[in-house]
Amino acid sequence: MNYKRTLITTALPYANGPVHIGHLAGVYVPADIYARFKRLKGEEVLLIGGSDEHGVPITIKAKKEGVTPQDIVDRYHNIIKESFRELGISFDIYSRTTSQIHTETATEFFKTLYDKGEFVEKTSMQLYDEEANQFLADRYVTGTCPHCGAEGAYGDQCEKCGTSLNATDLINPRSAITGNVPVLRETKHWYLPLDKWQGFLSDWILNGHKEWRPNVYGQCKSWLEMGLQPRAVSRDLDWGVPLPIEGTEGKVMYVWFDAPIGYISNTRELLPDSWEKWWKDPETRMIHFIGKDNIVFHCIVFPAMLKAEGSYNLPDNVPANEFMNLEDNKISTSKNWAVWLHEYLRELPGKQDALRYVLTANAPETKDNNFTWKDFQTHNNSELVAILGNFVNRAIVLDAKFFNSVVPATGELTDTETGLWKEIAALKDSLTDKLENFHFRDALKDAMDMARAGNRYLQETEPWKIAKTDMVRTATVLNTALQLCAVLSIAFEPFMPFMSAKLQKALVLKDATWDMLGATDLLPAGEKINDPGLLFEKVEDSVVEAQIRKLKEAQKKNVIDAWKAPAQKEETAFEDFEKLDIRIGKVLECAKVKKADKLLSFKIDDGMGGRTIVSGIAKYYKPEELVGKTVCFIANFPPRKLKGIESRGMLLSAENPDGSLTLITPEGPLKPGSCVC
Ligand code: MF3
Ligand code: ZN
Repeated sequence: MNYKRTLITTALPYANGPVHIGHLAGVYVPADIYARFKRLKGEEVLLIGGSDEHGVPITIKAKKEGVTPQDIVDRYHNIIKESFRELGISFDIYSRTTSQIHTETATEFFKTLYDKGEFVEKTSMQLYDEEANQFLADRYVTGTCPHCGAEGAYGDQCEKCGTSLNATDLINPRSAITGNVPVLRETKHWYLPLDKWQGFLSDWILNGHKEWRPNVYGQCKSWLEMGLQPRAVSRDLDWGVPLPIEGTEGKVMYVWFDAPIGYISNTRELLPDSWEKWWKDPETRMIHFIGKDNIVFHCIVFPAMLKAEGSYNLPDNVPANEFMNLEDNKISTSKNWAVWLHEYLRELPGKQDALRYVLTANAPETKDNNFTWKDFQTHNNSELVAILGNFVNRAIVLDAKFFNSVVPATGELTDTETGLWKEIAALKDSLTDKLENFHFRDALKDAMDMARAGNRYLQETEPWKIAKTDMVRTATVLNTALQLCAVLSIAFEPFMPFMSAKLQKALVLKDATWDMLGATDLLPAGEKINDPGLLFEKVEDSVVEAQIRKLKEAQKKNVIDAWKAPAQKEETAFEDFEKLDIRIGKVLECAKVKKADKLLSFKIDDGMGGRTIVSGIAKYYKPEELVGKTVCFIANFPPRKLKGIESRGMLLSAENPDGSLTLITPEGPLKPGSCVC
């Protein structure tokens, strides 16, 4: 180990919405596992988090709701912070980029680079909304992507093909504020000349960090091969950290300039006197946990900023994850296709560990992965309950039965015990190695294999049988099983801290460390232990069904929100309309049509002696609810036979966004037979 301490950072989530399982699987759960593991090993670590509270999406949301950007970030910062705490993400600090100390830190940083001449100043033409009286940076503009032709690409990125863009690259740009076509106006900005760092970064990453994950290394390589360009670090906006340059009112730092400095600000806020050793001592190593959409900022832009400043360390590793999908679709905040952490905590109380477990078991470490509620249930029921929970429960219940909940003294160990502990030792080595190298998914498998070994051990030794004849041997077996429970409580601690704490409390195991993992004598004989109760509960089908129903409803709502009126038909003459005889009718009777599940048959009072009309709306109404309703119908269509019934006319209805139909039922003192004109 050639470092003294590890600074772990987690991407600062935008405070314009709550966090969802995609954030957790990609960043916060793996970062927390790593931090807990390192702490258990007795290493010095910091886990730094916070909210990213600048940027255009926040101001757009504020405008939409008619509140201030500060209102928006206050609301979501608190929700996010509290939900992380409840999930057991063990931040040493979770702060925010609207803090005083952050403004100071970012200002100082910017000024240093400015004074050193590390920026390039450039005047250029930028998009401007004349009605809103402002420049349109980043997400304030949408248009057609120049690379893939997708509509609705943003001024900073096309979400379809992932290309990062400049607002002026967009074809047919539109202002997101007014919908207007923007004009071009001259403005001055400051750029970080990444091209200047091209040589340094290429060598540092491509030669110096071949150990980085292939997805991270590969993305950096392709950026470097394309050739780095200067990047604007200022924006014409009123929300952000003001530029510390004379005569730049109305300009702020680009959000991606100030946000990563938030890692520094938050460390400073936590440790005002000793923060520098965490950032500048070469014996400190820094690890950035992020999602794949943040790779370029953490591997190229931020390192260039740090290098340009000159006194900071660069990251040692950036174990970025791919994306987590949800029920086979991309997670989307705007489409509300997500499992929100704060809602999960409310709807599945006490199941923090289960979520942490499933998100790790399916961690999108090498490729995008998929979260489904069915799979969540399977992992919970057939692994947590049936393997880990079952083993611990059997050991504790059998000990209560035969030894009155006291840890029995072990007799002579047989090959079975030696074999078991050998297996555990090998698993410990593998688990440790995987955690060190950010392979959390495989590490979790090793931990679960320890529990599997425990179940196999009990199956083989059958203490419930030998208790009838050989209490000495029974004591050995249950001592072994309980020792293994203690081991499991340590092995799983980084992954499932709540279960681990509960189990350690029951076993009266104090001050556990990673070194103790694998020891065969963690629990002294003669010690009284307690029953922790069941460590995990089954997830019932009804829970899964309710969650899936909720997602489907969200999807339905999206369809409705996204609905747009269809294009108008081509012009037609009034005479053509006049040819149709549209009348008012009153429903006298209504019944299902036999052998036709779409059809209802109506008896209509049409003011002209009555008629029968068959209509294809059976899916949307119960016949009895239509009796007495006033309707509109076309009276002069030729009669047609439907399932043997002669239908004279057609009821008018309108189509809903989901394709269902609503009958037109006009109100007022209308008489059957009146003309609709
Ligand atoms: N808010 C950004 C996102 O959600 C992440 C910022 S990470 C930091 O994509 F480095 F800038 F802090
Ligand atoms: Zn595109």
